[in-house]
Amino acid sequence: MAQITALISAAGGVGKSILTANIGAALARLGFRVLLVDADTGLRSLDLVTGLSEKVFFHAGDVLRGRCEKMDAICASEQVPGLFLLPASLKRPEEETVDIRELGRLYAQDFDYILADVPSGISRRTLDICRGADRLLMLTAADRLSVRGADRMRSVLQEEGLPEPGLLITRFRKTSVKKYALMSVRDVRDILPLPLLGIVPEKKSIHASADHGKLFAGGPTEPGLVVMNIARRLLGEEVAYAV
Ligand SMILES: Nc1ncnc2c1ncn2[C@@H]1O[C@H](COP(=O)(O)OP(=O)(O)OP(=O)(O)O)[C@@H](O)[C@H]1O
Ligand SMILES: [Mg+2]
Repeated sequence: MAQITALISAAGGVGKSILTANIGAALARLGFRVLLVDADTGLRSLDLVTGLSEKVFFHAGDVLRGRCEKMDAICASEQVPGLFLLPASLKRPEEETVDIRELGRLYAQDFDYILADVPSGISRRTLDICRGADRLLMLTAADRLSVRGADRMRSVLQEEGLPEPGLLITRFRKTSVKKYALMSVRDVRDILPLPLLGIVPEKKSIHASADHGKLFAGGPTEPGLVVMNIARRLLGEEVAYAV
């Protein structure tokens, strides 16, 4: 049975798409078969981040509505064996909603892990996707706007009876904490006492990799190691933090 993890955030632009792709790539490098589901219907990012745009033909909506065979819509990564993508439709979200639980059922025997890149915010659409997932990973940057949104999102998830999310602190700049009085990891965790699964640094190389469709998971660079450690923590390993 494929386990479904949804990557969510209150604020946009915190790195959900980049990290969905690279945490998925890290799990694939660890030997699992991983399906990335782009659940950001109407926008679509994962094909660019994974360098698979040229291969997109069908999308999740086509699979769910029987317009193609389930495997016809899947694009295999050439960079990382074992990593696959189910792209999002570019139709308006209300025309082509993604039922992640139904996708999980359809692909249950084909993959070990399904990672869903979810639209930001606390809309009904996002909450419906969360309801279909086995596990939630909430991303926040270490700034007051993003953290306040994440705190609000946490309350909404609780009100909806959804599982407590794991936390990823993203776009983190250690040097900015003192220099610009930005929030430290401890400040974020005081407001969001959730199980911490990773701290992702702000790096120009991450931005460039995403822009060029290059996956960095498992590489020898700091971002490569960071996402590999996140994948290991998701698998239940205890991995120490460098910061
Ligand atoms: N750790 C990082 N270091 C540098 N740039 C980053 C980092 N994380 C994200 N970015 C950049 O920020 C932008 C947003 O990233 P991404 O699209 O992954 O975020 P998102 O949470 O999926 O956004 P949205 O809410 O719009 O879907 C991209 O240009 C990306 O390259
Ligand atoms: Mg995105």
